[in-house]
Order: sequence, then structure tokens, then C-alpha cells
Amino acid sequence: MQIGFAAPSAAGAGTIVVGATERDLLPAAQAIDRQTNGALRRAAEASRFKGKPGQVVELLAPSGVQNARILLTGTGAADKFDGPAAEKLAAGVVGRLLTSGEKELLFRIDLPKGANLKPQQLALHLALGAKLRSYSFHKYRTKMREEHEPTLANVTISTEDVSGARKAWERARAVAEGVFFARDLVNEPPNVMSPKEFADRARRLSKAGIQVAVLGEAEMKKLGMNALLGVGQGSARESQLVVLQWNGGRKKDQPVAFVGKGVCFDSGGLSLKPGASMMGMKGDMGGAAAVTGTMLALASRKAKVNAVGVLGLVENMPDGKAQRPDDVVTSMSGQTIEILNTDAEGRLVLADALWYAQTKFKPRFVVDLATLTGAIMVALGAGHAGLFANDDKLANRIQEAGREVGEPVWRLPLADDYDKMIKSKIADMKNISGVTHAGSIVAAQFLQRFIDKTPWAHLDIAGVAWQDGEQRPLSPGWGVGWGVRILDRLVADHYEN
Ligand code: BES
Ligand code: MN
Ligand code: ZN
Repeated sequence: MQIGFAAPSAAGAGTIVVGATERDLLPAAQAIDRQTNGALRRAAEASRFKGKPGQVVELLAPSGVQNARILLTGTGAADKFDGPAAEKLAAGVVGRLLTSGEKELLFRIDLPKGANLKPQQLALHLALGAKLRSYSFHKYRTKMREEHEPTLANVTISTEDVSGARKAWERARAVAEGVFFARDLVNEPPNVMSPKEFADRARRLSKAGIQVAVLGEAEMKKLGMNALLGVGQGSARESQLVVLQWNGGRKKDQPVAFVGKGVCFDSGGLSLKPGASMMGMKGDMGGAAAVTGTMLALASRKAKVNAVGVLGLVENMPDGKAQRPDDVVTSMSGQTIEILNTDAEGRLVLADALWYAQTKFKPRFVVDLATLTGAIMVALGAGHAGLFANDDKLANRIQEAGREVGEPVWRLPLADDYDKMIKSKIADMKNISGVTHAGSIVAAQFLQRFIDKTPWAHLDIAGVAWQDGEQRPLSPGWGVGWGVRILDRLVADHYEN
């Protein structure tokens, strides 16, 4: 699906989308209403249209205009109409028309008076919402009914500032590409998406100007990454550590660092998950996917920043060679860990990946993303990711970025009382507390033991990395690609020169 921009005078033959607030039709809608002899207002009234977000009135084969179809859509109250609202509006329309037989779509949404947006931003957000909703993942279907095939080929956004919008879109499209790349990684089945396959996909980022290095088990062994290696020990597939570097900043600038949990399949290991809980555990590499997508986005939009991405890629399987509950491993940091539950594996992978990122790159900050705990879904559901941080400034910036892009996060505490819960009888720490409460915090406390003095934030994305229904208007499939947009925005807002 192609996105384009055109001046408000441009006409199209396909579907035209016009808007209304909760008070009245916006100017373009009024013009269409006149051209159709009042049919638009009559249709709106007949269908109890109130201009609310998500409301749509559809006029097919209207007379008086050359368009095959008119869509009137609600912006909601003007003062609540912001970037995320515009994205949802466009996504809703695209979702409705994607497989409808329609090929051409023209958005002519005027900016409501009093909205939280500039005109050029409106065009950009409409474009991004349309693009993100157009994603699909059908590569494993050998037959698809014709009516399920996407038909929508061209989406045009009308705007006063066509060249400004085109320029801004170059950046936004790079971010959408990053989101799609992450979604693809998450959606692939685990028989395909092994640690090696993931590393191969990551290698493709070199085309975008990213340096890619891949460490295998022998190299990780030399570095002492026994916490990560222990997790992959029961798998027939080799663990991998992928290091991505984008150098878009000044030579001397310290990089920002992102670390992703990349458990390509989490069976639980010998602490085996029950069958129903194992379903979906191909998505346990969602953190690594988000970091990969972010790096691609930064490189594609030539972000003026030095950034590194470190991906800990393993498969957590039960086997004669698998790690046992009661094992003790020595992490790269030198700290020892008593493994009491092999299903608390993400923190073990991150322990070494975080240590590696800090000691090798001395970053300005490190943010890790991980589908770390089921408990975060108990606390926050799918509406927010969990945020933990040792640095208020970084935490506030992440929260703000999340609000801006519609990937909200909620901060939870870290404190010594929780840290005590992972004291071990025989090693420096154990990998679970042994009680069921505060599970997400305890996991974060564990990670914090592998943070030196670097400003650090941990995003627990277990509730947002994938979805079974279609609750997310911008994300039609299973893998959401959550994290790419918030990290890209964090960098864009504060760390580029
Ligand atoms: N990958 C899971 C967390 C998870 C659960 C993500 C459900 C998405 C949906 C993680 O490795 C895990 O198994 N965590 C355990 C920790 C427990 C053993 C302390 C959990 O949440 O039950
Ligand atoms: Mn697990
Ligand atoms: Zn896991």
C-alpha cells in the first residue's frame, strides 16, 4: 500500500474520507454535503452519527461527486483530537476498506479548531495510522479467499503543505518499516525463527548501514556468559548474541544502548510450562524484535545518534543436557546465580546481555525490553507496559515518549525490600523469589543487580508484545511490534544532535 500527499484541491475517483467533530461537519465534509445536495447530512442523521471517534457513515455511489464512495468519520471532541487519535481514525478507515474491493483512498480531514495538532502533523499522523494498519502476515497460507486479499493500493492524504508532509513522512515511514520488521520477527513460527535465523535476519540490517556482529556459543563462553548459555543449553539450536551498531552521531559521543530478550521459544525448560501456557511462547523474543526494529528505524531515518542494540537469542528447552533447577551458574559479571526455576530464564539472558552492553560500550543509558513476567499482565493488562528504572529523568522521558506515540508505560517501584527476596542460601542470588507476589518487581530487582552505574530502564512488555484479539487499532495481526515507536521517539526527543 502506497502513501502519498496532495493539495486539498486534488480530486480522486475512489473513496473520499471527510470528517466531523461532535459539533459539526468539518469544511471538506460541508463541501461534499453541498455537492451531494445534502445527502451526507441526511445520511449522518439517519444513522445516529454524532462525530464520535470510530463512528463512520458510508455513502456508496453518491450522485453529485465523482467518488465511488464517501466516508464520513468522527474526530471526536476537538480538544481530544491529538496525534494518536488521528492515527486511530486513519487506521479505522483503512481497516474497513483494506479488503473491500476499493483501491484508492483520499483523506480530506480538516484540522478541527482547538485540536492538539499542527496541520502538517495531522497529515503525518493520518499517514502513519493508515500505514501501520495495512500490515498483514499471510506467508504461510497456501489458499486465501479472494475477498480476504487486500485491494487498497493507494492512500492519499490531502494537506496544505505537501512538500513538508512528504519530507516528514520519510522519517515516519522509516519507523513504520521498523515496526513491520519487528512484527514479522514475532509472527514467524518458532520452527523457523531459531536464534540463528533471527541473527540472519538481523544481518540484513547491514543494508541500512548498521554494523552487525554475531557471537556464537564459543565466543560467549570465552566472555563468561554462563547465565545466558545455561538457558540455551537444552536446545538443539545454538544460542546467539547479536550486536547492532548505528553510528549516526559524532565520533566521540557515547552511544545509547538497547538490550532485548530474545527467547525464540520458551517451553519453560525442565520447569516445563503447562501446554496452554506454552502457546504463544514463540513471541518471547518480542523484546529483541523491538530492539531490531528500532535500530532499523534509526538507521533508515539516518538518526543523528550513536546507538547499539544487543540481542540475547536462545531457545529454552527441556533435554538431557538442559539446565536443572538447583544449578548454580557464574554470570559474565562474576556474580553467581542459583537457578531454582528454569522458566525464569529471561532475566538470566538479560543479566549477561546487559553486562555486555554496559562494559563493552559504556552507554549513556541502557534500556532493556523483555516479555519478562506473566505477572505484569496481572498488574497492567494490555494497556500499559511496565516500566522500572534507576533514573527518574530517563523514566520520565520514556513515559512522555510513550504518551506521544500511543505506547503508554506505567512505572512500578524498585526497593531493597524486594531485592532481599532473591537472596540465595548458596549463591549471590537466586533467580526466583519463591513467593508469587510482586513477580514483575522481583524480576526487575534481579536485572538491577547487573546494572553498574549506568542510567537504566527496563520495560516489561509481556502484556503488549502480542495480542490474540484485535484490541489494538494500529496493529491488525498477532505480533504488535510494540517498542519500536517509543524507543525511536525517546531518541528523537532527547538524544540526537
Ligand atoms: N516468557 C515468560 C513470561 C510471559 C508469560 C510472557 C506469559 C508472556 C506471557 C517468562 O519467561 C516466564 O516464564 N516467567 C515466569 C516467571 C516465574 C517462573 C517466576 C512467569 O511469569 O510465570
Ligand atoms: Mn519462562
Ligand atoms: Zn520467557
